[in-house]
Amino acid sequence: MPEHRFQVNGKPVAVDVDEATPLLFVLRNDLGLKGAKLGCGSGHCGACTVIVDGNPVNACTAPMWSMNGVSVETVEGAGRDAVFDAFLDAQAAQCGYCIPGILMSARALLQRDPPASADEVVAHLAERHICRCGTHRRILDAIEAARQ
Ligand code: FES
Repeated sequence: MPEHRFQVNGKPVAVDVDEATPLLFVLRNDLGLKGAKLGCGSGHCGACTVIVDGNPVNACTAPMWSMNGVSVETVEGAGRDAVFDAFLDAQAAQCGYCIPGILMSARALLQRDPPASADEVVAHLAERHICRCGTHRRILDAIEAARQ
């Protein structure tokens, strides 16, 4: 099987997997990083979102052939920042399954130059993420707090 070399949370990684293997499976099964979750497995729910070269990506539909040389950031590597603290303060998580993906999407958006507006945050999350518990208001409140 081909070897794939890339970075995860700032550290170089090499894995031997089929080139069609989704990044999510490598993160969870080969690298032991369980923060990104498997939800729909088809790029619709956003539970698997990680940051690849600064952009939010659905790891469930990102094949390993496209990962060579990239830099991947997962929720484990992102650490505690203003966005994380805002989610805690707003009690944005209910069951919490979707939260790692939404956190990474929010981080990627707010790190842009210029950072996303409130309307852009809503539009971005609406097309990429589902919270089945329905805590959308608290999630948006948290991101709004982190934006300021
Ligand atoms: Fe990847 Fe749903 S698990 S988008």
